[in-house]
Parts: sequence; structure tokens; C-alpha cells
Amino acid sequence: MKAIELVPGRNGPTVKALGVAPTPEGAMENSIIVDPKLLGEAVKKMLKEAGISCRRSVSSVSGQGALVVRVIEVPRMSDSELAETMKWEVERHVPFAADEVIMDFQPIHRPDEDPESQNMEVLLAVAQQEMIDRHVAMLFAAGLSPVAIDVEPLAAARALIELGPDPGGKKTTAIINIGAGTTDIGIYRDGILAFPRTLPLAGDAMTAAIAQQMGLDEEQAEETKR
Ligand SMILES: Nc1ncnc2c1ncn2[C@@H]1O[C@H](COP(=O)(O)OP(=O)(O)OP(=O)(O)O)[C@@H](O)[C@H]1O
Ligand SMILES: [Mg+2]
Repeated sequence: MKAIELVPGRNGPTVKALGVAPTPEGAMENSIIVDPKLLGEAVKKMLKEAGISCRRSVSSVSGQGALVVRVIEVPRMSDSELAETMKWEVERHVPFAADEVIMDFQPIHRPDEDPESQNMEVLLAVAQQEMIDRHVAMLFAAGLSPVAIDVEPLAAARALIELGPDPGGKKTTAIINIGAGTTDIGIYRDGILAFPRTLPLAGDAMTAAIAQQMGLDEEQAEETKR
């Protein structure tokens, strides 16, 4: 788990405090919270130890089990037509039941876009309601009041591109976030998400492969990897 406290500064936000702590055993499974209270208590402790006093929070959700973020192409249409079309697009793009989901979408306008082109790009984000409910319950258990819940590929771009040396993102950028269970890949064109994907292969799988090939236990393999 990671938390950061930012304060507005003259040259953009500055880091006031930073907290890192291991996710408690049994609190999460496949990037989904299974025990909001246990995780919330651990987050609360991490914030206290890091000296983070602000209670307003922005957090992000990730993983591929209960969240889908896609950039899709649809025929150019009006806002009301798009709202109707996106209901069907959800069914096409989510691998989980589409009845209890929270979804949002946003047409993407690139600087070089041709307004007469036949198709338009749309950013679509769909999350399982249950996953979000548990995330919110976890935040409340941690004593936080959520301002926003972001999705990994957009949160990564906000932190690394918008606040980076090339905020307009004139270059095409890839952000690869290798976690423990999942690797998130995001490709950003003009600073705008063009291709997000989450792969279920990351640090833990590397440790397991090292352990198996070299006949080491998990702890030794982790050490060897580092
Ligand atoms: N110095 C290092 N060298 C190589 N791997 C490392 C190093 N430090 C940490 N790791 C690995 O990084 C992984 C943890 O990364 P991170 O903290 O980003 O994961 P996470 O965000 O909790 O996981 P996920 O995003 O999959 O839920 C672990 O597999 C760990 O072994
Ligand atoms: Mg991660």
C-alpha cells in the first residue's frame, strides 16, 4: 500500500509525507478487497506512521477482475446517441456481469483530430459496483473522506506525465507499472490515454519462477530477484 500527502505549491504540488506498508494477509485477493475493515485499519496505521494528517483522499483502483478501462472507436455521433451506444459497448467489453456496474465514458479529442472523420475515440471505464463499495468501505474504515476514486492508467498519467517534464505529452509515452500480482501498461499519445492493458503477470510470478528454477524458498527467491 502506498499513500502520499501533497500540498499545493507555487511550482505545482509538493510531497509533504509518504507512507508505504505491506498489504495485510487476507485483505485482498486478485486486486479486489475481500476484508475492507482489516485493510482500512492497516491504511489508518500507515497514514499515522507516515505523519499524514489530511483526511481528504484520492485513491485508485486497478486489476482486471472487476475493472475495465478501454479506448474504443465508435461512429461519430451526438452525445445522446453516444450515451445509448455505450450501454451496449459495456456488454461487449466487460468480462464480468454487466448488471451491477458503475460506468462512465468520455469522448477523446486529440489535437490533430479531423472533425469530419467517420469515427470517434471514446474512453470507457467500467467497475463492478461491489468492488467500489468495498473500496469506499475501506476508505471509511481508514477514517478518510474520498474526494475521487481514479483508475490506474489515468492516475499514473496524472502523476508521471501531467506533473512530468513533458506535461502536454508531445511525445508518445508508455508507462509500465510492474506490481506484485499485475502489470499495468499504458500508452499515451498527446498526453492522452490511447491503449491501457492489465496483465496478470508481475513480480510475484518472477519470484515464483526463480524459486522453482533455482530450488529456493520464496524468501530466498525474493532476495535473489532484488
Ligand atoms: N528492488 C526490487 N527489485 C525487484 N523487484 C522488486 C524490488 N522491490 C520490490 N519488488 C517487487 O515489486 C513487487 C511489488 O510491487 P508494488 O509495490 O508496485 O506492488 P503492488 O502495487 O502492491 O501490486 P499490484 O499492483 O500487483 O497489486 C513485488 O513483487 C516485489 O517483489
Ligand atoms: Mg500496484
